[in-house]
Amino acid sequence: MTTTTRPSRVVSVPLDSLWERFSTVAPLVLIGTLEADGSPDVAPKHLAMPLSWRTLFGFVCSPDHATYRNAVATETFTVGFPSPELVLASSLAAGPRDTDGDKPTLEMLSLSPAHVVDGVLVGGCAVSLECRLERVIDDLDENSLLVGRVVAAHASERALLDTAPAATPRPDGGPLLVYVHPGRVASVHDTKPFPYHRGFHR
Ligand SMILES: Cc1cc2nc3c(=O)[nH]c(=O)nc-3n(C[C@H](O)[C@H](O)[C@H](O)COP(=O)(O)O)c2cc1C
Repeated sequence: MTTTTRPSRVVSVPLDSLWERFSTVAPLVLIGTLEADGSPDVAPKHLAMPLSWRTLFGFVCSPDHATYRNAVATETFTVGFPSPELVLASSLAAGPRDTDGDKPTLEMLSLSPAHVVDGVLVGGCAVSLECRLERVIDDLDENSLLVGRVVAAHASERALLDTAPAATPRPDGGPLLVYVHPGRVASVHDTKPFPYHRGFHR
């Protein structure tokens, strides 16, 4: 079946609201850190991705956020990839703090200690990573990039892909939560194989 797309005039996008004027897809991750008193903090981030083909992972963070301060102070952070059922709790992890500086909305999340680093894991995430902070790149406009080395990873069996050759049909890991900036989410249920050319290798 062929689909036709109506031609659309190309227009300039105002740069002062660049990322708000068209949709882009991103993951939604929950970054877990420990506050100075040892209590857990969790915050959602969408500017987050692997930074190498091995075990570097980075996320963009405001240096004004507790997440930044905590990760820099403890040199660790965790990353959770929430399943679609956790979308509301993930949003509430960006909830306001009370007068004591606590974030009561974190009670929506089921938290447990990380296994390898001093940190916190979020229950219900399809995949969780434990990271040691390796590098901080400040002054990216008003943001910073925190780069960590993954030192442990955990996944629900359903999310784990099999490592057989690509030709073998594999499960696609259950529904994936996708953040569609600005301000939308999607559950991805049906994926299909990428149309690599024959003999492709990276
Ligand atoms: C869907 C969503 C995506 C977000 N993405 C980011 C991001 O990529 N980087 C960032 O610094 N803040 C991001 N935020 C904002 C922080 O999560 C929010 O400011 C949070 O309250 C910070 O908490 P903290 O002070 O405990 O670190 C996002 C918030 C939401 C709801």
